[in-house]
Amino acid sequence: MESKLGLIEQSWVREALDELPDNFTITDPSISGHPIVFASVGFLKMSGYQRNEVIGKNGRIFQGPGTNRLSVMEIREAVREERSVQLNLLNYRKDGTPFWMLFHMVPVFGKDDGRVIHFVAVQVPISRKPRRSGSEFCGRNGVEFCEIVFGSCRREVCSDSAVELSRVLALDSELESDNRGLEIEEPHEASDMEKRRAATAVNNILSVLTHYSELTGKLVCGKRCCVSGMGLLGSSITSSLGRIKQSFLLIDPHLPDMPIVYSSDAFSKLTGYARHEVLGRNCRFLSGADTDPSTVFKIKKSLQTEQACTVRILSYRKDETSFWNLLHISPIRNASGKIAYFIAVQLEESCNNQDEQGLRPDMRQLSAVGAVKVAVRTMSMGAGSSKS
Ligand SMILES: *[C@@H]1O[C@H](CO)[C@@H](O)[C@H](O)[C@H]1NC(C)=O
Ligand SMILES: *[C@@H]1O[C@H](CO)[C@@H](O)[C@H](O)[C@H]1NC(C)=O
Repeated sequence: MESKLGLIEQSWVREALDELPDNFTITDPSISGHPIVFASVGFLKMSGYQRNEVIGKNGRIFQGPGTNRLSVMEIREAVREERSVQLNLLNYRKDGTPFWMLFHMVPVFGKDDGRVIHFVAVQVPISRKPRRSGSEFCGRNGVEFCEIVFGSCRREVCSDSAVELSRVLALDSELESDNRGLEIEEPHEASDMEKRRAATAVNNILSVLTHYSELTGKLVCGKRCCVSGMGLLGSSITSSLGRIKQSFLLIDPHLPDMPIVYSSDAFSKLTGYARHEVLGRNCRFLSGADTDPSTVFKIKKSLQTEQACTVRILSYRKDETSFWNLLHISPIRNASGKIAYFIAVQLEESCNNQDEQGLRPDMRQLSAVGAVKVAVRTMSMGAGSSKS
């Protein structure tokens, strides 16, 4: 049943998602502009858009002048760090009317390579403003007050008593008039029940996606831990590492058997291994029949003693051809000075051993190490939260 189509492109997956009562969208971060690729029936009804007006668009089309910039930045940050986020957000319907909702977004990971393939964003409308004094509780138009007092009663039924209550609470007539356009921008906070509802919806959607991904053979899951290369790096550091042109690997010494957690494009070019074929594995697969065991021992020793080392070692490509590898290994420390990774820089030995700029191998190795050190330190200083 393996299919070239993405999970969400399968009509039967979309049909299954449409059975869910929740208001949600699914986006694809691998497409430029990070567009919406699925919008639930409930979401379309809530936002007033037709499906074709939403698909292919970025979620920012629902934002407006009253939307809190910090919340938008927080969502962007969560996308970049590939983590979940739950916050109160003011969005706008197609007709321009604003509404508060609880926005709960989670990443969906591909099981084979651990990459984020989708984000699911559930939106639960917020029905009231808690944690306010009595008169403000009234929400000025009375309806929210009514909902607090009478539960989820309908607007028509309650409006009379709500107006009555506003009078009792001595709201002036100006506040009684419908000036929701102004007051709507005051932050509304979701209740615990709404938070639970969002979390339940997320779980339901993830279980539909997981279930159907099993049938298509392209597995997805809600946690990255199902990937063999646990502790894979987030997208913010991956993109700064992506600018480094040399062949190198990052190894996580804190995980069992010291797996590779990052490999550069140049490494794939040099060795013929695709990234997903090396992530999560120990480096020893690069050695072969004629690799000198004493050199391998020297590398192990330098990892144990946390020292840098440079060796000339016979390494093997995927196609089993060998090459002389000028290998440099160095610990990479995070902002607090603890070893975060080891870097292994590979250079294929050649006749003159100089690159286009005339740099010697050791200089090239050190420049890769320097660039990685900067990337790791910047990450560990800026994003302590991304590790949680
Ligand atoms: C979806 O949004 C509508 C408002 O359009 C709301 O009445 C309904 O409760 C929401 N559904 C869920 C499951 O949150
Ligand atoms: C550095 O790494 C250590 C050990 O993994 C960790 O406890 C510490 O929080 C890290 N520091 C920063 C700033 O990330």
